[in-house]
Amino acid sequence: MSAQVAWDPAWRVLDAGAGTGLLGLAVLPHVARVTAVDTSAAMLEVLAAKAAGLSLETHLCPLEALDLPAASFDAVVSSMALHHVADVPAALAGFARALRPAVGPRPGGHLLLADLDSEPGTFHSDNTGVHHLGFDRDALGALLVEAGFCAPTFVTALDNPKVGADGVLRNYPVFCVHALR
Ligand SMILES: C[S@@+](CC[C@H](N)C(=O)[O-])C[C@H]1O[C@@H](n2cnc3c(N)ncnc32)[C@H](O)[C@@H]1O
Repeated sequence: MSAQVAWDPAWRVLDAGAGTGLLGLAVLPHVARVTAVDTSAAMLEVLAAKAAGLSLETHLCPLEALDLPAASFDAVVSSMALHHVADVPAALAGFARALRPAVGPRPGGHLLLADLDSEPGTFHSDNTGVHHLGFDRDALGALLVEAGFCAPTFVTALDNPKVGADGVLRNYPVFCVHALR
């Protein structure tokens, strides 16, 4: 993500599907504040303990029904959460609403999503709670444009060889897409 945007120390950042904060805590030193959203109270409790005294707040909420104020974030970041979200268009619409819009020549807020490229269903040992077997970049790019984002740009963030649930060694690359509100 740091290769795709220049973090700004004034930014308010939403970490979508934050879990215990691997991403949000890495971003936090570069920005003003991180709001970590997740549906797991247990994950957020661990994160809150790790982030005590830091400018990071937790918020229990499904990404499909984000209830944070409109235009209140400069960036939305997310790592390995979107494939767990059943209604991706609803989540993307919520991200668009949460980000500040473009005003005159100033571009709108930044969206940075890292997740799996399409995979055969063998990345997880148990696909319970997995709603998408990774993502096709063109299809996700189209959903981003439909949600009102501009210029989605994908990079391969990580080559990720591992032995899958079927015992076969294969690559499970992780993309990162950057798009502007
Ligand atoms: C694989 S973990 C990734 C956590 C973290 N982003 C990281 O990279 O370590 C996926 C996270 O998404 C959360 N999650 C799954 N579905 C969600 C939803 N519909 N709304 C919000 N969070 C969700 C899970 O509770 C979990 O913490």
